Amino acid sequence: MESHIEIQNEDALQKSFKEMISTLPKGNCWGCFEDLCQYQGFWFFSTFLQGALSAQQQFQAQPTDIILCSSPRTGTAWLKSLTFATITRTLYDDSTTPLLSKMPHDVVPFMEFDHAQFSTNRHLGIPLLATHLPYSLLPRSIIDSGCKLIYICRDPKDTFVSLYHFAARYSKSQNTQPIQLDEAFELFYEGGSPYGPYWDHVLGYWKASLEHPDKLMFLKYEELVEDTVLYLKKIAAYMGYPFSSEEQQQWVPENIVKMCSFENLSGLEVNKTGRHREGQGNLGLENNIYFRKGKPGDWKNYLTTEMAQRLDQRTMQKLSGSGLSL
Ligand code: A3P
Repeated sequence: MESHIEIQNEDALQKSFKEMISTLPKGNCWGCFEDLCQYQGFWFFSTFLQGALSAQQQFQAQPTDIILCSSPRTGTAWLKSLTFATITRTLYDDSTTPLLSKMPHDVVPFMEFDHAQFSTNRHLGIPLLATHLPYSLLPRSIIDSGCKLIYICRDPKDTFVSLYHFAARYSKSQNTQPIQLDEAFELFYEGGSPYGPYWDHVLGYWKASLEHPDKLMFLKYEELVEDTVLYLKKIAAYMGYPFSSEEQQQWVPENIVKMCSFENLSGLEVNKTGRHREGQGNLGLENNIYFRKGKPGDWKNYLTTEMAQRLDQRTMQKLSGSGLSL
């Protein structure tokens, strides 16, 4: 239990974070609950930045931790469900897995918000933790501990379209004015999206993956869609939970892929009608907002040719010389 002095220190720390955040440059809120603010080259909702600063000071990574890293709307929930199901496959079967009654974001804590920096809020048997933080802002202990990271990214056009829909649905749920597609597009293009600039986020992890390939697995949503079983086997081996030949003969990887598929998860009652962060003010949301189409290339239904070309050009320019293409 925390002592009185610890609580006082914690309150003082949070107050100093809030004060610092109030001095940062502000950006468009995307029709969401608070303005974005710019910190060390990236844009954040201040609630999450406060959590990030807290994690930077207090989170103690363990060498056995596995940190799932991503920009919003690039496949985080899917990666959470696949890794969670893989790691817990001997604890639960198809009829008892928590994924049947909890949405993926509720089985893997989110570092900037769930206060996972305090070990009491973590399920110690399950080493997974997720963050949207850019590589450059990860708590130092994550790098020093030598724990493993998995990063997922996605075609910027689909990421943008998914983000736009998420923001619009969020506004609808709060009865607030939604952001318009054109306005959101310009913000994303200029880098002013949550945890953006998107390309800088991707590049930070890409470069780190080249420097530390044994510590950072770099995934693309589209490749995961293309051959989920193959990538799941790679992910399992990388995490240190490889599928044995007996498990492979029993179709264990295939069954996990099926259970975590968009079709299956989005059809579960918990994901159709349940709520995430219930009781946490304007952060509470219907789970179904997190499941939209789950298809690469949906940008074609929303972006004009000119918009798509502009975004592609920006991607080429930003990733030029990196050896990465998206
Ligand atoms: P779309 O909006 O294009 O459908 P994140 O979890 O990082 O917020 O990413 C959200 C995107 O992943 C959304 O994309 C969502 O529909 C898709 N998604 C959610 N669950 C998925 C799953 N099990 N398989 C594939 N895609 C999934």
